[in-house]
Amino acid sequence: MMRNIILLILSVHWSQGTSDVSQSPDVLMAVKGSSAQMNCTHKKDILHNQMYWYRQRQGQTMTLIVFTSTSSKPDYGDSDPNKFEVHKSVPENGSLTVKNAQPDDSAIYFCLVSKHSESNTEGRCTKTPCTHII
Ligand SMILES: *[C@@H]1O[C@H](CO)[C@@H](O)[C@H](O)[C@H]1NC(C)=O
Ligand SMILES: *[C@@H]1O[C@H](CO)[C@@H](O)[C@H](O)[C@H]1NC(C)=O
Repeated sequence: MMRNIILLILSVHWSQGTSDVSQSPDVLMAVKGSSAQMNCTHKKDILHNQMYWYRQRQGQTMTLIVFTSTSSKPDYGDSDPNKFEVHKSVPENGSLTVKNAQPDDSAIYFCLVSKHSESNTEGRCTKTPCTHII
């Protein structure tokens, strides 16, 4: 059946103040078993060299997938490093690839940009409403 072959991954745009963070594409379809890459770029200054990737499955809370930074190795926490591939070589952008896409990877994916040693919550989803645009 079609719905077993294709899944849908949604990503979001959000902005705070005048510093934009954007993700592409808005909607991502992946064939089951394939890899799906999404990019996140921002126009904040180059001190914002950290990028967090989150996802939220329908009806569930947002969970952190991986923390990336231009100055350290990715921190996968409880996530499977074989499942998610990240690139973070420059401050202004980064990418997340979901490998071996499965129906339960259908989710809204968020990227969060932050500054090294930032102590406040600027740009965090807890502060910024994260609405998705389809
Ligand atoms: C993400 O970036 C890569 C490398 O620049 C590019 O090849 C790919 O097309 C981009 N994907 C999207 C969805 O923007
Ligand atoms: C990320 O930024 C670098 C340097 O500005 C640029 O060469 C590259 O194309 C960008 N990649 C994406 C996916 O925007």
